[in-house]
Amino acid sequence: MSKDHINATKKLAKLLHDNPKQKVIFLVGAGISTSCGIPDFRSPETGLYHNLSKLNLPYAEAVFDIDFFEEKPRPFYMLASELYPGKFKPSKFHLLLKLFQDQKRLQRIYTQNIDTLERQAGISQAYIIEAHGSFAENHCINCNKIYDMDIFKKHLDKYQKEPIDKNFARCRSCNGLIKPNIVFFGEDLPKRFFATWDSDLETMDDKETRPIVIVAGTSLTVYPFASLPTEVSKDTTRALINRELVGDFKASPRKTDIIIECNSDDAADIIAKELGWSKQLDDLIKEHDLLTTIPDVTDELESISKELDKLTIKEDDPKAGEEESSDENKKENKSNSSKENTQTEQKIPAKKDFSESKST
Ligand code: OAD
Ligand code: ZN
Repeated sequence: MSKDHINATKKLAKLLHDNPKQKVIFLVGAGISTSCGIPDFRSPETGLYHNLSKLNLPYAEAVFDIDFFEEKPRPFYMLASELYPGKFKPSKFHLLLKLFQDQKRLQRIYTQNIDTLERQAGISQAYIIEAHGSFAENHCINCNKIYDMDIFKKHLDKYQKEPIDKNFARCRSCNGLIKPNIVFFGEDLPKRFFATWDSDLETMDDKETRPIVIVAGTSLTVYPFASLPTEVSKDTTRALINRELVGDFKASPRKTDIIIECNSDDAADIIAKELGWSKQLDDLIKEHDLLTTIPDVTDELESISKELDKLTIKEDDPKAGEEESSDENKKENKSNSSKENTQTEQKIPAKKDFSESKST
């Protein structure tokens, strides 16, 4: 970590220290979980989307596209087996978030992650907005019937043992596909996301209640989440803790922005130390039985890579093709064009739409 970024972290910590009543809103993404062994989406080489290129997807984000899922659920099942909560432990940064809660300094965490590691770190649901949903509930994509968590997991396990279409979770009423309530491209974000953000924005109007906003571990490419830092009032201090400069911090930097380009766990260490919370952080690390060094994610990525290779072979296998409908390509084209029509500002646009909106 460079000296400049260490100083910037200390500056943020001093601000927090000197304003003990001020609360913090965190806006986070996959980068705060990479040290847990979960790859992020867009990092070159290691990101999930890079690895998904082996699946012959029309574009990487198709794995989270509702129309594509309806036609070909397999890639999502692959991804779900990698990301399904339960096998990972929270990072140091997650534990720092827990300390903000314990110290009564936490206003909210808006997370794009579906790994539920904020909950696992012991943070109360009242503070967490899972903007892109989670695996906790499921619904039929055809008739919207709600199913509990177990049904998808049961079928996911079956599918892992025997990857055939028969093992996809299907609705008892209409035989539609059952999918976790993870927000796909073309789906609305939870109502609670918008309602809570509106009320959090109001707290920024008043000096007494004005929070600090810390953005961490996200490329800020997926809307509407990516627009949150832009909506933060000009009087509110924003900080970015990320390996690279992103989003509005890059496009429209503000004089008061605090930029910390580093691994989020390294920043967590410094912040905890400067605020006198090092012992509490160590205790939490022991409680969660975390390794003090950042685990190497190479093995995890290799196993994903191998799984994807197997799947690629299967997709090319003419017999495997029989499992899918014969007019698949036709349907794929149709779903792609309908996707473009369904984008609105309330939904997450696909990458293509994002780059268009960004250039305007
Ligand atoms: P991305 O993969 O797009 O971005 C992760 C960001 O974190 C990048 O800017 C990395 O440089 C940075 N990063 C990685 N490791 C880090 C570390 N240890 N410390 C600090 N920074 C680190 O992930 P998101 O922005 O979260 O949608 O992606 C947003 C959405 O795109 C996801 O929620 C997902 C995907 O489509 C759904 O799950 C529905
Ligand atoms: Zn149904």
